[in-house]
Amino acid sequence: MDDRPIGIFDSGLGGLTAVRALAAAAPGESFLYLGDTAHAPYGEKTPTQLRALSRQNTGFLRALGVKAILVACNTSTANAMDTMLADNPDLPVLGVIGPAAEAAAAATGTGRIGLLATAATVASGAYERAVRRLAPEASVTAVACPKLVPLVESGRVSPDDPDLTAAVAAYTAPLLAAGTDTVILGCTHYPIVRDALRRAMGPGPAFIDSGAASVGALLRTLEDLDARAGRKTPGSRRFFCSAGRDTFVKVGSAFLGWDISAQTELVTL
Ligand code: DGL
Repeated sequence: MDDRPIGIFDSGLGGLTAVRALAAAAPGESFLYLGDTAHAPYGEKTPTQLRALSRQNTGFLRALGVKAILVACNTSTANAMDTMLADNPDLPVLGVIGPAAEAAAAATGTGRIGLLATAATVASGAYERAVRRLAPEASVTAVACPKLVPLVESGRVSPDDPDLTAAVAAYTAPLLAAGTDTVILGCTHYPIVRDALRRAMGPGPAFIDSGAASVGALLRTLEDLDARAGRKTPGSRRFFCSAGRDTFVKVGSAFLGWDISAQTELVTL
């Protein structure tokens, strides 16, 4: 048993999709969440920049004494996993792409999988490789969605927001045309605008939430290491962001369904 907190990071609000799943599945686990809002969006950055930012984030969480790190950011997972694993040989460090690809391979009936992700995730080809390993006959139609993260980070998440509606319509059109039956929300921000995506795509395709999918893998890893929290009471929760605390607290509280104001600190990275 290990009552130390789990460290979780993303470029901003997106990793809260993993937090919500973790808090529901394992309320006794404590966690520290870092949203590097000062440097968001990550999706437009180069692999070299992403390695440096990912190293910065794992270093921040490590210094606070975490027992494991969940990289709740597809863009970091796709571009910097090797760096993070090499930097932290003594700590379990898990990404989101493997679990999401597994869930998509299990969900698809037709083998036509859609991927909505950031430009840097799409450019990496990481999802195509992960899906090909699990379902060699499946096809992946990938669309980069650069407008979505800035909209989420500025709190424009209503399915009635005209800019969000227009962006989502344009990004989902190629997936509808390709007849995808399963769509990987391959950026942890996207489940926050799930309603807009569902409205654009209709009830047909299954949506794979990459942040939520990774929580099962994280808890299994902790169980294998006998490192689950032993307490029966709720774990402690702390949030850090590196810019825009007010918006982070407002959008984050609305998404999680509890007020994170007293638990959120602004930090300089
Ligand atoms: N939420 C992150 C991801 O899953 C990063 C998005 C961004 O900052 O562009 O890729």
